[in-house]
Amino acid sequence: MQKDIIGYGSFIEGTYGRKLPQVTKPDFGETILFYAGRYALKYLIKRISADTDIDTIWMPQYYCPFVKEWMHHEFDTIKYYYVDPFDASSKIDWSQFKSTNDVVMVNNYWGLKDTDIPDGDRPIIIEDHSHGWLSEGSLNSKADFCFASLRKTLPIPMGGIAWKPKASKSNICLNKSDIFDGYAGVNPMNNAWNTIVGSMQLKENCSEHHQKERYLEQYMNGELMVRSIYDVYEVSAPHADFINQHIHTDFNSFKKRNADYTFSKLHKNNAFKIVRHETKAPFGLLLAFKSLDTLNELKKHLVTNQIYPALLWPKNDLTTTYTYLLNIHMDYRFDTNDLDYIITTINNWITSNK
Ligand SMILES: Cc1ncc(COP(=O)(O)O)c(C=O)c1O
Repeated sequence: MQKDIIGYGSFIEGTYGRKLPQVTKPDFGETILFYAGRYALKYLIKRISADTDIDTIWMPQYYCPFVKEWMHHEFDTIKYYYVDPFDASSKIDWSQFKSTNDVVMVNNYWGLKDTDIPDGDRPIIIEDHSHGWLSEGSLNSKADFCFASLRKTLPIPMGGIAWKPKASKSNICLNKSDIFDGYAGVNPMNNAWNTIVGSMQLKENCSEHHQKERYLEQYMNGELMVRSIYDVYEVSAPHADFINQHIHTDFNSFKKRNADYTFSKLHKNNAFKIVRHETKAPFGLLLAFKSLDTLNELKKHLVTNQIYPALLWPKNDLTTTYTYLLNIHMDYRFDTNDLDYIITTINNWITSNK
């Protein structure tokens, strides 16, 4: 069986020809596609700074370290603010941002948060919906601008999106073609795109163990290209067509159903808490830990059993009781047999650690 080789991993290989349900086409307002979430974010900041002298760019302290590093390469006025990522009802202290010329990037953690946008004088707000594409929060955002890394959810090699929500109070329009970087000849993103498409195809057709090494290596090569490209290129028409084939697929109904099913069968324990919401679809099965050692023990056990969770995120200095998160994908690729396997594997670890 193919899953005996590839296991249950994080990077999404494809749909195996399945027709997945679509949501009713949402009206996001103005939108622009990008090759990745970070390019959408950089575009937005450049677009805002073409209109306003930005004082400080604020990012949440708990965030992807690679994207933080990438952003520091591009902007030298970044500071961090604190918000609890594991409590969907935690609020941002808006009084800490003193200037209406600051830009505050707010993360819709795990697709479970609704951001309270303050009334009156406030900074410019950009909301990141990378973990909650098509979530309630993304559909009804009141931020000035939003973006998402689409490749975290859709079976696509690369993709991001920026939009100006209909409720935005900003008078800056989103589109300004001179923000894009130019190039002569071949689209500089082609290489990264083709490398990652190749790794997805290898994964989808993987039938032997040595192919697994190849697709993982190829995937990492593509990812390293993205990490070292800083220019923001317009998405080509064929690439946009590819992204648009999947952009309105209803991935959240699978995630919600699978995560609820798994939650109901996992044993209660003191090692981790499950970050979830009664009605909202989580990014995946979200296990928050107080101790990194305990997290690593479960992670090792999962990997031994061909379940490959993502640690979100390794470098942080949270002051809350829960400090680290493991995510196990719960998307359309998983059926009840897969979920039962994941549940049994976690429950066995809980029982043996009592
Ligand atoms: C929450 C979040 N936002 C944005 C990004 C950036 O997306 P991309 O990797 O597509 O640039 C990431 C990437 O890891 C992320 O985790």
